[in-house]
Amino acid sequence: MLYSSLIVGMLALASCGANVDLPGAAPDEDPKKPEPTETVLKDAPFKVGGAVTVPLLKNNSQYGDVIKAELNSLTSENDMKMNALSTAEGAYDWTNADYTVNFAVENDIRMHGHTLIWYREDALPQWIKEYASDDKDEWIEIMETYIDDVVTYFKGRVDSWDVVNEAFEDDGEWRTENIWYQKIGEDYMDYAFKAARKADPDAKLFYNDYGMEYSAAKRTAICDEVMAMKSRGVPVDGIGIQMHINITSDKSSIQTAINEAALCGGLVHVSELDVAVNPYHVAPDPSLVWTEELAQKQKEMYKHVFESYMTIPAAQQFGITFWGVYDDHSWLKENPDWPLPFDREFEKKPAYDGIIEAITE
Ligand code: XIL
Repeated sequence: MLYSSLIVGMLALASCGANVDLPGAAPDEDPKKPEPTETVLKDAPFKVGGAVTVPLLKNNSQYGDVIKAELNSLTSENDMKMNALSTAEGAYDWTNADYTVNFAVENDIRMHGHTLIWYREDALPQWIKEYASDDKDEWIEIMETYIDDVVTYFKGRVDSWDVVNEAFEDDGEWRTENIWYQKIGEDYMDYAFKAARKADPDAKLFYNDYGMEYSAAKRTAICDEVMAMKSRGVPVDGIGIQMHINITSDKSSIQTAINEAALCGGLVHVSELDVAVNPYHVAPDPSLVWTEELAQKQKEMYKHVFESYMTIPAAQQFGITFWGVYDDHSWLKENPDWPLPFDREFEKKPAYDGIIEAITE
């Protein structure tokens, strides 16, 4: 700036009563003016969460700081699955789950429980896999006792639960490769939800699944079953749409999946959102590198999910949870991938900006 125009600027500011603090400050800056408050993710009109892991909560202060600054809901990525909690029949290890839940409670963050009943082998404790009985009543008893013990233990600290995870196949049929389905039958979900409600009447109870954005048959089967359960008096409060998508996912089907879950009547939780840039669902490219072009495509997809979610009634918006927090810790990282809104140094990515655009526009 020319010296003469600096003088003119100073005079102009002085004449309109501005606080000109000289020398040092540029004439158009007021050092006493507070920074404009920046919009963060948790300023969204619904809860925004992340799936977390204990070693990072314990040892990485940046991780904790980002969570506290940006998120107001948490899910444990693995520590509240049955294999993690149940060490033997009637015996529990609460250590990691407690650490996570206490972190949430201490920081006034909502805690979502994931997940009570899931078929996946690696999420089942050994004693369940080895339990030698085909007696339906015995299996109902095992399941109800487990749910009662866990939900009662966390009562008042965990606000909501994925009661059943992934009961359906992509074609809308029941998943039969599922010990609970095999031992109890289709009504295993009824027993599970009833047991959870009985243990904590205040907790919101979800059915959670993936693929609703690409399979119409699956989302129809899920909504039909949820409606049927409700008409039988089974307490289901909402549907969790996992939403593990990628930069090429079909945008209109994402909107449709969210709309249809809302039309099903209860709460809608986008429960495990990540946007992969490497097509892992086909065959991941091991040499893929992160580029600005990928970043922009990912931004558009994140923005689209938030915009779509904002079209459903506010009373049904339970929130959107990312499956992770930053790119250095993601179940997809080794593909390689960069699926989250914060990069490996915790910097905000274009994806982050896309979300802010969606919630502020
Ligand atoms: C994944 C975790 O991210 C992995 O660390 C773990 O090895 C397997 O489970 N759907 C779910 C989540 O409901 O629990 C899964 O989490 C991802 C897919």
